[in-house]
Amino acid sequence: MRDLGASPLPHLRGDVLGQMRSDATELSAQATEGKRALAELLAADILVLAVPMYNFSVPSALKAWFDHVLHPAKTFEYTSAGPRGLLKDKKAVILISSAGDYSAVPASGMDFVEPNLRAIMGFMGITDVTVIKADGSAMGEAGISKKSAAFAAIEAL
Ligand SMILES: Cc1cc2nc3c(=O)[nH]c(=O)nc-3n(C[C@H](O)[C@H](O)[C@H](O)COP(=O)(O)O)c2cc1C
Repeated sequence: MRDLGASPLPHLRGDVLGQMRSDATELSAQATEGKRALAELLAADILVLAVPMYNFSVPSALKAWFDHVLHPAKTFEYTSAGPRGLLKDKKAVILISSAGDYSAVPASGMDFVEPNLRAIMGFMGITDVTVIKADGSAMGEAGISKKSAAFAAIEAL
């Protein structure tokens, strides 16, 4: 389990990217950690992400993790027909929480979490994706009942 909130990978610098995508054995601490994060992803059967909405998007710590682990020839490749995901044998379970409710227009247009995560899963070839939402946590009773429904959905997995 990686707690990106407590121990985030730093933002990806150009030199670290170069090391991540090379066979160099002399690696910076960040490239070593990035390669470890990629190895964890490749070894997993199920990717479970617990994601709070931060300013309508994913937390930057999760974006930094994606920047390290989305890797050509490991998680995706480009063909003459376009990109092809390489993690087709994996599943994803994604838990998304937010203070507000983005389930209907116009607020749904401000949800850059679920579409972003679905796009990234698809890009990596993960098509078996379950999304569970605990939204509206700042909206009183409605949020409480949505959180209970989310817990029930998790129990039912
Ligand atoms: C920096 C920051 C930005 C946030 N931005 C949003 C936001 O754009 N929309 C929203 O609905 N909630 C936002 N929240 C609330 C979190 O999504 C929410 O606290 C989190 O999902 C945890 O839910 P909980 O309060 O039920 O534990 C933000 C929280 C923080 C700390």
